[in-house]
Amino acid sequence: PTKDRVADLLARMTPAEKIGQMTQAERYDVADDPSLITEYGLGSVLSGGGSTPARNTAEAWADMVDGFQEAALDSRLGIPLLYGVDSVHGHGNLKGATVFPHNIGLGATRDPKLLEKIGHITAEETRASGPQWSFAPCVCVARDDRWGRTYESFGEDPNLARRLETVIDGLQGRRGQLDDPDRVLATAKHYAGDGLTSYDESKAGTGQYPIDQGVDEVSSREFAKLALSPYPTAIHRHKVGSVMPSFSSVDWTEDGLGNPVKMHASKELITDVLKDRMGFDGLVVSDWRAIHQIPGTYEDQVRISVNAGIDLFMEPTADGTGWRDFITTLTGLVDSGAVPMARIDDAVSRILAAKFELGLFEKPMTDRRHIDEIGSPAHRAVARQAVAESQVLLTNKRGTLPLSAKKSPVYVAGSNADNIGNQAGGWTITWQGGSTNDIPGETILDGIEATATKDVTWSEDASAPVPANAAGVVVVGETPYAEGFGDVGGPQWAYDPGDHGVPRPPKTMLLSDADQQAIRTVCAQAKNCTVVVVSGRPMIIPPDLQGQIDALVAAWLPGSEGLGVADTLFGRRPYTGKLPLTWPRTVAQEPINIGDRDYDPLFRFGHGLRTR
Ligand code: IFM
Repeated sequence: PTKDRVADLLARMTPAEKIGQMTQAERYDVADDPSLITEYGLGSVLSGGGSTPARNTAEAWADMVDGFQEAALDSRLGIPLLYGVDSVHGHGNLKGATVFPHNIGLGATRDPKLLEKIGHITAEETRASGPQWSFAPCVCVARDDRWGRTYESFGEDPNLARRLETVIDGLQGRRGQLDDPDRVLATAKHYAGDGLTSYDESKAGTGQYPIDQGVDEVSSREFAKLALSPYPTAIHRHKVGSVMPSFSSVDWTEDGLGNPVKMHASKELITDVLKDRMGFDGLVVSDWRAIHQIPGTYEDQVRISVNAGIDLFMEPTADGTGWRDFITTLTGLVDSGAVPMARIDDAVSRILAAKFELGLFEKPMTDRRHIDEIGSPAHRAVARQAVAESQVLLTNKRGTLPLSAKKSPVYVAGSNADNIGNQAGGWTITWQGGSTNDIPGETILDGIEATATKDVTWSEDASAPVPANAAGVVVVGETPYAEGFGDVGGPQWAYDPGDHGVPRPPKTMLLSDADQQAIRTVCAQAKNCTVVVVSGRPMIIPPDLQGQIDALVAAWLPGSEGLGVADTLFGRRPYTGKLPLTWPRTVAQEPINIGDRDYDPLFRFGHGLRTR
């Protein structure tokens, strides 16, 4: 049994070997010199968003991970390495992998069986290309749509989040299947209350994040209901193997402390609640340099977070305060007794147990038998089904939808009709995602062209005249973003270094002028007009436009399968999706959630018209 194997190995390890196991470096920091993995006995390596081998192919990924693995096996005890990636909607970093809708769209499907299938395909594509660990799923409950990570959540309702945790079964398999070549260790994140942080007006436009990584100013009762409640099911029903704490802090205002505590520093929440009370026996991995946000010196930060109960430390860089300093600092703290050896042994036992269960001691190298299935037609068919099931039909005047493929020509407009990068959102190839068609798959325009049998015309010019008698489809919405930069009012012109410093427009929940113009033009001239919103959260639909639009669809961030959007538009599949969150009338209504006093949204949580 795993327990005995762990105890046996632990008894043979030196303190330095144990601390090495607790350390996780970034790929780019060991790529040039994998012998660092051997020298320091590193326990884990990660690819953060956009951190890929130079050739971004599945074979190159597997070769890279295996190269690192060889270095790990060269260490005195030959303990294998655990490699982690953010497979948050498919293996997002790998070009050619199936790109599923982001969680917010999956929340609209309310389909736990589909979630399990998606988890399984994601695991298969991830593990066949090397990584054995995914930092997913995000089980957070998102309460304020100005939060840029809203799309990583299943919605605003903890019951919904719990129901869709079946994705963990798909990722990890049932008990005992973790060592199969098509399963990965899953991570429930971000513990806890990542989606409950308050909007801090004073940070808007200052270059700081107004909501992301902020403070949960809620009562302990509300915290338990909204932030903690997704975890016991993830732990007991789905046996999730790891948990990542949140960058955010919690302030029990009701208890009058008024002193926010960083989740990464909270012994109460990590050890007492998660490990002891909830009985979580897997490993807790810190978020990217998150311990650096704990007040105090680096020595304080390491001591507090290790003693709080974090087991594995994402201290990505070698320079400055990074993994090398982490090792030195923790070694000093153990020597001085500030961190007890029992805590180190507990942390290392949890890490080793995961490695044994993943079968890494028996088969450390990538089993590539499923590599040809990455992005296969069968996998993409499931993604297409997920896209169709995630579509939410918000209004449908005079039965505008479904459109008839045969009857009239179709005129397509709007900024998101023909951009697969915008469809896929953040965490796709790069960290923040990008507006690009350089991702394999089909845009919504491709899907419409493949489905309609009459002429399809498309114009990027928002004022171009619309052909007489055409059915109009205007695809509008957001451009990609990920953590931090999607906060409305957040850093202006923030850019993703992965995009070589290309600036991005500031994020907002308002439709761009060009999209509004396209809607006005098409709705005034076309036979009927359908607006499809491609976004990670609700977009504000101005009242005058509401009057002009015949049918309104929330398509979320569908990923690589634009055909799935066309399937519902043309009635090949019915609309069945239900809103996973409340759709406000104005940004000023935020945060708006079901159960609020004076709840008066444009569309209620759970709304969604059905077609046959
Ligand atoms: O897993 C992510 C986390 O969700 C946000 N910060 C970075 C981590 C690793 O990429």
